[in-house]
Amino acid sequence: MENTPYRTVFGATGKIGRALLGFLSEAQLPTIAVTRDLGRAESLPFVEWVAADMSRPETLPATMENSVAAFLVSGMGANFIAEQHNVITAAKAAGVKSFVKLSSAAAGKSWPAHIAPSAIGQSHRKVEDLLKASGLDWTILQPTGFMQNWLGEFSKRVKEERSIYEATGDGGRAYIDLRDIAEVAFTVLKDPAKHAGQTYILTGDEVLNYWQLADIIGTVIHQKVTYVPLTLEEARERMEKTGMPQWTIQTLITYAEVQRNGDATYVSNDVQQVLGKPARTAAAFIADHIEWFR
Ligand SMILES: NC(=O)c1ccc[n+]([C@@H]2O[C@H](COP(=O)([O-])OP(=O)(O)OC[C@H]3O[C@@H](n4cnc5c(N)ncnc54)[C@H](OP(=O)(O)O)[C@@H]3O)[C@@H](O)[C@H]2O)c1
Repeated sequence: MENTPYRTVFGATGKIGRALLGFLSEAQLPTIAVTRDLGRAESLPFVEWVAADMSRPETLPATMENSVAAFLVSGMGANFIAEQHNVITAAKAAGVKSFVKLSSAAAGKSWPAHIAPSAIGQSHRKVEDLLKASGLDWTILQPTGFMQNWLGEFSKRVKEERSIYEATGDGGRAYIDLRDIAEVAFTVLKDPAKHAGQTYILTGDEVLNYWQLADIIGTVIHQKVTYVPLTLEEARERMEKTGMPQWTIQTLITYAEVQRNGDATYVSNDVQQVLGKPARTAAAFIADHIEWFR
């Protein structure tokens, strides 16, 4: 596949990255997938894995030497900004033309102006600024809360107690299925020039609070599911008991506070505009993951 333009995917073993690789592979677009640990690599047609570490700049050129475009997602760590900046710098040096960054709605205009951005939002915003100053053609994706966050402790409570414990009061959010995020990223990577200079805010089409989600889950699994609203303090105590790091707890409390105040109801049309179809619904998401909840 020499001389074939590649797309490079950072965060390829993560939730969004894996879904994105599926789309790229199916479309037969040659792809370099990056991981620190090749033991985590999933074999797929048209996907070549390269080991590299965003915190070690010397490992990065090999990931992008034949690439026209790069996609970057990584989880939040202590050196998040410096690591993401390393990838942007290496992309520029390698002659990559287009760069797609997975950011967060918390970094953009859908975040309420009267509330200080979360630490995660601030970090993403800083990297967005570095990307815009890099000289690369850029596209930024700012998703809101993922439906996939419901898979884990949340779905376990539904399965074992038929209950939802959240501190968002009556407030809603237009949660997004991360398969839509991956499909938008794929669509941008297919034809990056068409999306250069765009910031897409990625939300679902329907604002849901947890009373409504309890009904949706109940309908899908044919069982009554009850929403038990918590105070912010109760939510904090529950998270502390799980041993979650303080900064994660604080971030989640901030998101819950914004939502319970009715400040998280932003709905964007960008998924529809980029994909030419509606965003995946919560009912479809629950049905597709029914074994987690039933
Ligand atoms: N959850 C939400 O509701 C939500 C909402 C909006 C935005 N976001 C954003 O979504 C992002 C998380 O996406 P995700 O859930 O798909 O991530 P994830 O599943 O946690 O995966 C993280 C990926 O980053 C890679 N990575 C981390 N450090 C690396 C390094 N030093 N060098 C190379 N690769 C590295 C990991 O690869 P290896 O371990 O294989 O090396 C892994 O593939 C975060 O930026 C978050 O702010 C989340």
